[in-house]
Amino acid sequence: MIFDNFLSLSDEQRAIRDLARDFASREIAPKAAELDDAAKFDDSLTGKLAELGFLGMLIPEEYDGMGLDTVTYLLALEEIAFADASAAVLMSVHNSLPTQMLLRWGSDEQKDRFLRPMARGEMLGAFALSEPDAGSDAAALSTQARQDGDEWVLSGTKSWVTNGNVAQVIVAMARTDSPDDRKGGRGIGAFIVTPDLPGFGLGKKENKMGLRSSPTVQLVFDDMRVPAANLLGDPSRGFTYAMSSLDQGRLGIAAQACGIARAALQHSVAYAADRRQFGRPIRDFQAIQFKLADMASKIAAARATLYAAAAARDRGERITMYSAMAKLLSSETAMWTTTQAVQIFGGYGYVKDYPVERLFRDAKVTEIYEGTSEIQRIVVARQLYGDR
Ligand code: CAA
Repeated sequence: MIFDNFLSLSDEQRAIRDLARDFASREIAPKAAELDDAAKFDDSLTGKLAELGFLGMLIPEEYDGMGLDTVTYLLALEEIAFADASAAVLMSVHNSLPTQMLLRWGSDEQKDRFLRPMARGEMLGAFALSEPDAGSDAAALSTQARQDGDEWVLSGTKSWVTNGNVAQVIVAMARTDSPDDRKGGRGIGAFIVTPDLPGFGLGKKENKMGLRSSPTVQLVFDDMRVPAANLLGDPSRGFTYAMSSLDQGRLGIAAQACGIARAALQHSVAYAADRRQFGRPIRDFQAIQFKLADMASKIAAARATLYAAAAARDRGERITMYSAMAKLLSSETAMWTTTQAVQIFGGYGYVKDYPVERLFRDAKVTEIYEGTSEIQRIVVARQLYGDR
């Protein structure tokens, strides 16, 4: 496959990448178009990923995970995204956000109750930060948490929650400061929410352009009573926890985008060799060759940035700037590459008979969620001045 020898990988990294590729081509790719068309979540997906250990890839073995490095995790995620970006986002959110928050800031008791079963894939995780009026300006969220004895009472609506209707554990951010004394990002806590809590409700399920077999829902907390034991860490540091976890999450979305872009390239290379116009395969025309060369070169650049950022994380370095760069470059590459793919396929690229139409729709959200491209540029620019 194109790019297989581009990175210097260990035998274990190659083996896990190949395992993910083989699994994705057998179990995920054949169903992707049908699930997309029906906007249907594949109920068997979580169990199959769990069997492979893919829902605990970054969790140490002492907490029932696989204890793998970030590079290996992203290689596997990229292969899943190559087959179906909807399946990849399930893996990305679960591995990068709620499980990482529990690993870093959870108490021993929280790790036993939630992290272990999540690492084994018996509980699926979700992450609830955004709200109808707080997207890019995440610190402006308004869901209120009020302490009442040994419980917290949460009221508000969370938006754009990937897997919010199928997850068993949702890490949700809510304000712990008082309405009379707002403290911005320093007045937010992170809560472990389970769907059985009194006052937990599901809101609107979104009807999306792409990633149609990955459910995205609103969650409505109506005086939802959360045991104090479900507060994660410090009640005023939840925003920082969320931001720091998004540094990791953005690498996952970048890997997803690279998988989408690689799929668009692979399909385009094959199509351009088959499709004949003016008496020859269209790959003979320089107009097509230049598109394919630019697609491949941009993907190589995005992947190099992504895996360099992942290696920096594995060395224990702060990756805020690198992960923002990786997400920015990968998502814009995915959108650009899938646009070129549709163009190479011409009319056939505009219909559902070929996969590039779905890839084009799936690519778009990578420029939006886990921080828009504009937010990634802000993060990079701030880091250049040493801010935050
Ligand atoms: N790591 C650690 N701490 C961080 C941090 C990071 N990467 N970024 C910020 N912080 C800390 C700051 O140090 C600061 O802490 P102190 O108060 O102690 O100084 C605090 O967080 C507030 O930081 P800022 O003042 O920089 O916050 P801000 O309000 O200016 O916002 C922002 C910064 C970059 C714009 C941020 O709001 C942001 O990233 N917005 C985009 C939100 C986003 O990505 N949402 C995705 C939702 S998840 C999703 O998409 C759904 C899904 O399921 C896939």
